[in-house]
Amino acid sequence: MSALLDYLNDKRQLVDRVLGANLPPADTPPAVIHEAMRYAVLGGGKRIRPIVAIAAAEACGADVEGLLVPIAALELIHTYSLVHDDLPALDNDDLRRGRKTTHVVFGEAMGILTGDALLTEAFAWLARPVAGIDAAHQLRAVREVAVAVDSKGMIGGQVADVITTGTNEASPELLDFIHRNKTGKLLTASVVLGGLLAGAPEEKVDALRRYGNAVGLAFQIVDDLLDQEEDAATLGKTAGKDLAQGKLTYPAVFGTDAARARVESLLEEAVLNADIIAGPVNYLAGIARFICERRS
Ligand code: IPE
Ligand code: IPE
Ligand code: MG
Ligand code: MG
Ligand code: MG
Repeated sequence: MSALLDYLNDKRQLVDRVLGANLPPADTPPAVIHEAMRYAVLGGGKRIRPIVAIAAAEACGADVEGLLVPIAALELIHTYSLVHDDLPALDNDDLRRGRKTTHVVFGEAMGILTGDALLTEAFAWLARPVAGIDAAHQLRAVREVAVAVDSKGMIGGQVADVITTGTNEASPELLDFIHRNKTGKLLTASVVLGGLLAGAPEEKVDALRRYGNAVGLAFQIVDDLLDQEEDAATLGKTAGKDLAQGKLTYPAVFGTDAARARVESLLEEAVLNADIIAGPVNYLAGIARFICERRS
């Protein structure tokens, strides 16, 4: 376990450095948006999406040094989704990563524009030429991320989440749709991006996709469980809000025990596929376990 924690820690610091060095400096005009972007991105966070992309690329034999900018772009997209998720019109949250949310500090208009700017910046990073990768292959990788977060992906999931909040509309199919789209697809695309940037063969990309699908759904079920089980100090975000807001969650629909059991079976599925990759450096199974057992 401690080798895994060291790995997660090292990679988190690496991603933090790439983010800090590549985001526009805070004094770039108009300064307020660049201050807000840096505030939103550089204020903590587990960096799971870039880390899992790094782990996938390494498991497929890549040296990730030259791949870090497109990989860090995943965190810009994730952070944009959080900034918008916290807006008054969505989940209306004032606490994120242990600090005030971006719109609370910079105002609602800047909150909206910060999300817009981070999403756009992400695609500029993804499209930056990468040495050793031909343009057609990189284009496929960029598209993989784009479709994961479009209106049939992450945004579709957020839409379904928003329109079902506070209603009694609950079905296992609807819940699966929300979780796989709002959270699962970006996680899956992160793992697949790592494989594609590493030039992995199709059968490995397929195994990475199955791993990502399992881990992605498990990630959101655990997020639902932690919202119930932990406090704001541990989570760095408001606790108990899903029940208060009438969110469609796994524990609300199936109960806590069944939600935990689902996480266990998704973990098995993830580990099975992680083992198919079988590279000399393979932290994918360990990361899946971390995602399922985390307490924040
Ligand atoms: C929280 O994501 C929102 C979800 C998609 C469930 P994380 O738990 O990865 O949040 P950070 O990035 O570590 O703050
Ligand atoms: C957020 O889900 C999913 C996205 C931002 C795409 P949640 O609303 O459950 O995330 P938290 O609990 O606020 O982090
Ligand atoms: Mg939400
Ligand atoms: Mg939320
Ligand atoms: Mg949540």
